Amino acid sequence: MKNLNEVIKKRHTTKRYIDGPDLTKEQIENIIDAAYLAPSATNFQDSQIVIITNKSKKEEYAEFFEESNKINILKAKALIIFIGTPFKVLLSDNYKRIYDTIKDFAAKDALDETAKGVINYYTKVSKYTDTIDITSSSIQLAFVLLQATDIGFETTPMMGFNTSKLEEFMIKEKTMVQGQRINVTASLGYADKNDELNIKVAKRHRFAKENMYKIV
Ligand SMILES: Cc1cc2nc3c(=O)[nH]c(=O)nc-3n(C[C@H](O)[C@H](O)[C@H](O)COP(=O)(O)O)c2cc1C
Repeated sequence: MKNLNEVIKKRHTTKRYIDGPDLTKEQIENIIDAAYLAPSATNFQDSQIVIITNKSKKEEYAEFFEESNKINILKAKALIIFIGTPFKVLLSDNYKRIYDTIKDFAAKDALDETAKGVINYYTKVSKYTDTIDITSSSIQLAFVLLQATDIGFETTPMMGFNTSKLEEFMIKEKTMVQGQRINVTASLGYADKNDELNIKVAKRHRFAKENMYKIV
């Protein structure tokens, strides 16, 4: 395991992969843990991942991506899809999910009151209710990218895909359910170090750092 700062500096987007060893069970477990231990609002755990390593399945999923991403995915060792469950969908099981979430921190004799407070907050107060699962998926993505880098893979975050068609396919495949949504995807594998596009993008292009932050 590398120092976190080294991993952050090492991670960069890879556009083209070459073949290499399949992910081991342990590596898949590492990736799952990175997503599993990511934080979420009120600990709703409103985001899941689907990991596709099977070659022919990966080819089927790749069909729904833009051409450049499709080429990327075909040579990658895994495609990961980050699925979110919007808050209004979390509410649709008669509040069971809300109670399951709060029972870890609410006082036993105040479960109803706490649930009411949480529901009131997310339905009447918060301006982020419609997007908290997207934030959860984004954090999971960051954790997964860094974990994958740490165990020796290169990665590509990807939003270039046909959302409605991919969602329709995944619902049919039973890798997501109606009401959930695809928030982001990523591929991982072994970079083709001779690929010109890879050489170009590997340089961590950034605007001047001072434009990015303020210290108050
Ligand atoms: C939300 C998001 C969507 C992205 N979508 C794609 C994509 O569809 N295809 C792709 O090749 N790269 C995609 N990227 C990668 C960016 O191009 C890349 O992160 C950016 O150029 C910075 O380079 P770096 O990751 O090497 O630091 C995406 C990145 C993010 C964060």
